[in-house]
Amino acid sequence: MITRRIIKKKWRLGLSIALWLVGLHLICAHNVKSPTALSIKEGSADHSQGEETLLEDEDSEDLEVFGPTDKWQTLKPGQAIPAGSHVRLNIQTGQREVKLGEEEGLKYRRDGNRQGMNTHNPSFTAEELKEALKSYKEGMDDPVDTKQDEDAVRAQFRPIEELKKDMEALDMLMETDVQVMRRLLNQLNNTNSTTEEKVTALIDLEYLVHQVDNGQNLVSMGGMQLVINALNSTDIHLQKSAAFVLGSAVSSNPSVQVEAIEGGALQKLLTLLATQRPTAVKKKVLYAVASLLRHFPFAQSHFLKLGGVQVLSELFQTPGAESLRVRIITVLYDMIIEKELVSQVGMDLTSDSSRQERLRQYAEVSLLPVLVEQGWCSLVPVLLASPEHDSREKALRTLLAMMAQCQTQYKQNPALTASLSELQKQYQELVLTEQDVGEQDGYFGEILALVDSMVVKM
Ligand SMILES: *[C@@H]1O[C@H](CO)[C@@H](O)[C@H](O)[C@H]1NC(C)=O
Ligand SMILES: *[C@@H]1O[C@H](CO)[C@@H](O)[C@H](O)[C@H]1NC(C)=O
Ligand SMILES: *[C@@H]1O[C@H](CO)[C@@H](O)[C@H](O)[C@H]1NC(C)=O
Repeated sequence: MITRRIIKKKWRLGLSIALWLVGLHLICAHNVKSPTALSIKEGSADHSQGEETLLEDEDSEDLEVFGPTDKWQTLKPGQAIPAGSHVRLNIQTGQREVKLGEEEGLKYRRDGNRQGMNTHNPSFTAEELKEALKSYKEGMDDPVDTKQDEDAVRAQFRPIEELKKDMEALDMLMETDVQVMRRLLNQLNNTNSTTEEKVTALIDLEYLVHQVDNGQNLVSMGGMQLVINALNSTDIHLQKSAAFVLGSAVSSNPSVQVEAIEGGALQKLLTLLATQRPTAVKKKVLYAVASLLRHFPFAQSHFLKLGGVQVLSELFQTPGAESLRVRIITVLYDMIIEKELVSQVGMDLTSDSSRQERLRQYAEVSLLPVLVEQGWCSLVPVLLASPEHDSREKALRTLLAMMAQCQTQYKQNPALTASLSELQKQYQELVLTEQDVGEQDGYFGEILALVDSMVVKM
């Protein structure tokens, strides 16, 4: 006999997810039906150690949970977003896009290491979410086979009325995002709070400010300045969490980017990068810098004026900071490509005057000459020695993007020539293995094309 047992823990999970979903409007109505259809079972936790696993033999039709990657992907209606993802609104298409958050963010949530979390701000991995939602649907859709089963199930599941009461009680306990943010900001601002409490407040804030409205609330509630001040703190955990909040708040949120720049965030971030800090802090700071510069030519010019390229050059060459290299290159590459794309005619559907203004602003971002001056023509090739395909790919793309400025230096760099021919051999072989498994346009093929392109242009 198949009995669907959902122990108390799962019940809580399912219930808070339901509430969370209602609160965040992330799920289409047709997927979640009425909450009154939710069936639950309680009180079995003490004697159901072995029954914790949800049975998997039910219909496979379940709520689609979005599987974010490190690239932006469009979110379809009805898809749920796992905790730790970045969500942005694509202004051109009006659609939401999602990608993986910083890996630490995901890890934090997976570990459940988030004290002081509120009920509608749960954090689950994609897998947990999927399972919980699946069991939630199973509970409401599946017909019961026999009379006996029906009784058994009825005994195990709570009456709807009771459930409704619980949900109402929970509803009243739920805070709006603004209330939560107020509470967190007070915690951050209170001189009586311990460092640990402040860090917790920042981590919870980070979760909220991904949403465009909450990012703007952060500014209007005076929180941006608190976060920027926390960058100045002497505690590295506070520095790191503050940078994380800042990066997420400004990410795809132009008005918040402006506030952060005006609040002096960039200067503080660059100071953190230029001085001795643990790599974990610098990672978050680089994330914040990248988010702050993205699609914001004014900030990019400011970055150049503040000597940002020099700070990154030094960091790139710092022994022990090798793991930051690919992130550094990515920041620079994104800026080069962004300017290139904006200059391409036909990429832009906005009116002529705003296009002119945008072109004018990007024209002031004179990054490539500074890169040459700071030695990047010979720094980027260093990254080709990385064992990671991803790092090599980033390096190759950046090398190609700097071709016009760096060609002479590339030609005079025997190490670069040697790396390229070595990589060419390696990827030719890898492409063959890719083709063996029937993949014609695989990742290795893509990298090989980049290598070939470099070789031809040199
Ligand atoms: C900090 O703690 C003291 C003593 O417990 C209290 O009097 C004061 O009001 C507290 N300050 C804040 C801002 O909560
Ligand atoms: C932080 O606290 C100070 C007083 O201690 C207050 O003036 C300020 O408004 C507070 N800021 C925020 C954002 O709550
Ligand atoms: C923050 O750091 C700047 C230097 O970057 C310093 O001038 C300022 O006084 C510091 N502020 C606080 C509140 O520590």
